[in-house]
Amino acid sequence: MSSVPAREQLRQRAEYTYKFNAKTGRHGWLRLTPAYSLKIVEELVIGHANAQRVLDPFCGTGTTALCAAYHGHEAVTTDINPFLVWLARAKIARYSPTSIEATRHACRQALDLVADRAVKPVSAPPIFNIERWWSAEALEFLRLLRAAIEHVTQPVTAARNLLLVAFCRTLIEQSNAAFNHQSMSFKGNEEPALLFPIDRGAVFEADVRFVLSGASENPVSAASVVLADSRALRPGLSGPFDLVITSPPYANRMSYIRELRPYMYWLGFLQNGRDAGELDWAAIGGTWGIATSRLTDWERPDKHFRSAHLTDVLRGIAHADNKNGVLLAKYVAKYFDDMWAHFCELPELLASGAELHYIVGNSTFYGTLVSTERLYAEMLSELGFSRIECRPVRKRNSNKQLVEFDVVAQWK
Ligand SMILES: C[S@@+](CC[C@H](N)C(=O)[O-])C[C@H]1O[C@@H](n2cnc3c(N)ncnc32)[C@H](O)[C@@H]1O
Repeated sequence: MSSVPAREQLRQRAEYTYKFNAKTGRHGWLRLTPAYSLKIVEELVIGHANAQRVLDPFCGTGTTALCAAYHGHEAVTTDINPFLVWLARAKIARYSPTSIEATRHACRQALDLVADRAVKPVSAPPIFNIERWWSAEALEFLRLLRAAIEHVTQPVTAARNLLLVAFCRTLIEQSNAAFNHQSMSFKGNEEPALLFPIDRGAVFEADVRFVLSGASENPVSAASVVLADSRALRPGLSGPFDLVITSPPYANRMSYIRELRPYMYWLGFLQNGRDAGELDWAAIGGTWGIATSRLTDWERPDKHFRSAHLTDVLRGIAHADNKNGVLLAKYVAKYFDDMWAHFCELPELLASGAELHYIVGNSTFYGTLVSTERLYAEMLSELGFSRIECRPVRKRNSNKQLVEFDVVAQWK
């Protein structure tokens, strides 16, 4: 089923959501999809050419489903974040030449409206300290452009979706956000002043061109993207799947909502900080805003995943010489309880002989190593999976202890 030409077409759409930063040498805009993850997923998909149905229960920006669909497999992917579900659907959809042309036309119309200021700008999104994100000029342009896109396209059309994907690229390119470490930060004041004004319309036009060139090469198969909680998949999904490839959240306190906030506010998926915190609390591994105070009050339920190794890990973190030790031990406990709830969903969705690949990294908290891969392996073994292996994939950074693994298992 796999074919080499699919590679280039696939890469273009995968790159909708990341952009190479020549200065830092890293891939940014959506921190969920580093370039290497596409490579790993691609190798796995190509290596399982006979798989009929592929599942990714942690969709993110849709890398697995996109890859599977370009290589001719039926794919289903789920995520708890409605923005990511929208984005992945837009990335994976098949576009006709007519809709590509309509988008090109709508882009020109929108930019004319912006140039003539012939549309009422949308209100600035309620992002805290918005002036840190965008200069007054950039903000004004984005408000006009956002209104113009709405004016020249109908809701839920290919043209609206494609222009909004391009808008997401443009809004981050025009922001002061830098991607030079784990999460977003703001550029310092050392940025040189510009000699010439930026042609913001040209930036958007280039983004639309980029998005359309990917959209014109369609995946071979269809994929569906479902808004669902991976801890309760069975009501919405029907099996059987014979291949699962996924990269779940890591136990590292990274908040996807925090990283995605600019897009989510601009596109109307978030209205305020409280909603952001609620969504982070609902997601596995979230600890941002209200999620942290919820965690303070959270107690481990009586029925939870039991593991001597996890008990040692939690004790080590809770007794660390740090005032946050107890809170972070709760964080780690909740993370593994949530992942256990997720793994318990799988057996009924899998075909006999189905293979799982969970790409996940370990972490450390106050000197205690959390061997996520080992705990996944314990959980899968308890559920009756066989041929379980934790294959190291890559080192994460200069800390020798931090490694990414492919946790592999087979359903009986
Ligand atoms: C590491 S990211 C996935 C990255 C993905 N491979 C990609 O291509 O971008 C983990 C994803 O899990 C999602 N997630 C967290 N908790 C979830 C839950 N309970 N149910 C479904 N998805 C969840 C997050 O929203 C995030 O998109």
